[in-house]
Amino acid sequence: VADTTLAVASPLPPLSTPRPARLARARSADTDAVAALFGALHRHNAALDARFALADGWRALLDAHFARTHASDAALWLLAWDDGDGDGDGAEPVGLLLVEAHQDSPLFRERGWAELIALYVAPAYRGAGLAGRLIDAAADWAAARGFDRLQLYVTTTNEPARRFYHRRGLRPVQEIWRLDVTPRPDATQPTDPSHAPGADGCGAAVLESGHHHLAMEADRADDR
Ligand SMILES: CC(C)(COP(=O)(O)OP(=O)(O)OC[C@H]1O[C@@H](n2cnc3c(N)ncnc32)[C@H](O)[C@@H]1OP(=O)(O)O)[C@@H](O)C(=O)NCCC(=O)NCCS
Repeated sequence: VADTTLAVASPLPPLSTPRPARLARARSADTDAVAALFGALHRHNAALDARFALADGWRALLDAHFARTHASDAALWLLAWDDGDGDGDGAEPVGLLLVEAHQDSPLFRERGWAELIALYVAPAYRGAGLAGRLIDAAADWAAARGFDRLQLYVTTTNEPARRFYHRRGLRPVQEIWRLDVTPRPDATQPTDPSHAPGADGCGAAVLESGHHHLAMEADRADDR
C-alpha cells in the first residue's frame, strides 16, 4: 500500500470528523507503534472476556514475529498515521491491521485463506471509515495473493466490531461455544498433540490449526 493520504467523503460525517489518516506498511522502525496498538486491541478484547488477556511476555513474542514477518509477502502489517498539522513532526499511529496467509491442516481440501489477526482504530478516529479502508486493503492483499476469502475471530459481545464487519459484507460461518469447567487443583494440562513439533521441527498442526499463528509461535517459544 502506497503512502497516500485519502480523505474520506461521506454524506453523514460524524459530529467531529477526525483528521484523515495516512495508511502505510509498517517498517522495522515502527515496532513501538505496532506494539502500542496491538496492546490496546488486546486490552479491549480482555475487557470483553478476561480469558483473552495477553501473556506477560507478549511484547517480546510480538516483536520477534513482527521482525520476522513485517517485510514478508505472507503478511500485511498496515499502520494508519495521523500526520498532525503537516509540519512532519509528531506523526501519531492511530490504526493497525495485520493479515496473514493462513494454512489449515492438510486433512482439508481447502487449506488456505487470508486471516485477519488484528484490527484496531484508536477511539478518537472511529466512525470515519478508517477500519473500512484497512479492511479494503486486506481484501485487496488477499485477492492479489490468490486467496478467495478473508477470515477472522470476533468476540460475540463485541457489538461495534460485529456491526462493522456485517456492514462490510462479512458473515459468520462458524461459532466457538464454551462450557466452563472447574479444573482439579492437582492437575497439569497436557500439551496440544496437534501442535507437537513435526518432522520439519516447526510445530506442524496436523489435526487442527491453532487460533492463529501468533499463538502457535508462543507454543514454539515455550518448547525452546
Ligand atoms: C471495530 C473498529 C475497528 C471499527 O473502526 P472504525 O474506524 O470506527 O470503523 P469505520 O469508521 O470504518 O466503521 C464504523 C462505523 O462508522 C460508520 N462510518 C464509516 N465510514 C464513515 C464515514 N465516512 N463517516 C461517518 N461514519 C462512517 C460505519 O457505517 C460504521 O457504522 P456501524 O458501527 O453502524 O457499522 C473499531 O471500533 C475498533 O478498533 N474497536 C476496538 C477493537 C476491535 O474491536 N477490533 C476488532 C476486533 S475483531
